[in-house]
Amino acid sequence: MATTNPIPQFPAGFLWGVSTSAHQIEGAAEMREPSVWDAFTAEPGRVKDGSTAAVACDHYHRYREDVALLADLGVDAYRFSISWPRVRSPKGLDFYDRLVDELCAAGVRPVPTLFHWDLPVGLDWLERDTAARFAEYVAEVAEKLGDRVGKWITLNEPAEHTLLGHALGVHAPGKQLLFDALPVAHHQLLAHGLAVRALRAAGATDIGIANSHGPTWPASEQSADVEAADFYDVLLNRLFADPLLLGEYPSGLGDLMPGDVASDLKVIAEPVDWYGINYYAPTRVGAPEGTEIDFGGIRMPAELPFSVREIEGVPVTDFGWPVVPEGLTDLLTGFRDRYGERLPPVVITENGCSYEGLDDQERIAYLDGHVRALHAALTAGVDVRGYFVWSLLDNFEWAEGYARRFGLVHVDYETLERTPKASYAWYRDVLRAQR
Ligand code: NOJ
Repeated sequence: MATTNPIPQFPAGFLWGVSTSAHQIEGAAEMREPSVWDAFTAEPGRVKDGSTAAVACDHYHRYREDVALLADLGVDAYRFSISWPRVRSPKGLDFYDRLVDELCAAGVRPVPTLFHWDLPVGLDWLERDTAARFAEYVAEVAEKLGDRVGKWITLNEPAEHTLLGHALGVHAPGKQLLFDALPVAHHQLLAHGLAVRALRAAGATDIGIANSHGPTWPASEQSADVEAADFYDVLLNRLFADPLLLGEYPSGLGDLMPGDVASDLKVIAEPVDWYGINYYAPTRVGAPEGTEIDFGGIRMPAELPFSVREIEGVPVTDFGWPVVPEGLTDLLTGFRDRYGERLPPVVITENGCSYEGLDDQERIAYLDGHVRALHAALTAGVDVRGYFVWSLLDNFEWAEGYARRFGLVHVDYETLERTPKASYAWYRDVLRAQR
């Protein structure tokens, strides 16, 4: 149970929100071009429950109802994503035009993410040209929505899209390239920098990115474990944060990247107005054990130079993810220490957990703990400006299908009926108390 002590007061103007993404909620797949996720889910065995996102939460048709849920919840902002395959389809952009109008009318600030993993079929992040195509698409979206959208997110979790989609093959497009997937990271980062320039050219002044980060804890103090943990930290955290914030790749990884890396880094490090972090849990990492392991349903091949270990003595979510709120404080103070003045204000662009049931006291405890941990980071001097819960709705959790429920609002996938959970009422009360 969450404690009954009130949550400490956050500064005036702190942005409270919830997040979703297009492929996970929209449905109406027949009204857009296909994405790599449509192709991937059509292959037998890729998604655990055999489901697809063809209908998902049918948000495309029910967005008014969902915006009403946002308004009742009392959030300041709503982070959603724009489907690049939909924008490529006739009248696709009109959907986001309607959604943004509806949000503005409800007094909820729209915060679109321009890429949340649903790459149009035919494009490939191994190709440098995809970065240029992305910037063109971003310019088109900015022109249409820029009069009402102030706050933009370029990419969502390029680390997971690289690792899960292209190195391990458990997400779309299902490639198992291991370290040959590194160009996918570089081209996404380049796409981010080009998108920042395109948005600036369209007059945008409030631009960020949503990167996943978590503290990496060595399994022991032995040097083999410490080195393995450091390597993991480089791959999952610094490979993405360093080029963006410092203009350089960590640990010589720039030598493995394609193209004119030095000049690309100037584009990649184009200043952003804020830095978005998706935080779920820390990871405990040790030396390789020489065997394949299962990490939260993800197969980690034996040849990787590290192994992911269990964090003992903490609760886990239904997904098996450890619940460690203080990891968020450590992460943020660690970022402040590493990047110093190069770190712009931070926004937590995702935080949440999967649990079953409408009376979701465990989710309340998780969120309560993490909001307090965030406040502790503020008190420690980290400039944090916002917090977004993942997610408004239960939705299509990628390779897990519909089995994992991250929503503040329950979705019945037979009837598509929405039912607010106990955590929805809890968050609404938290937001009211902050006013
Ligand atoms: C990160 C991703 O951005 C989102 O799409 C996903 O559903 C959540 N984490 C939970 O796994």
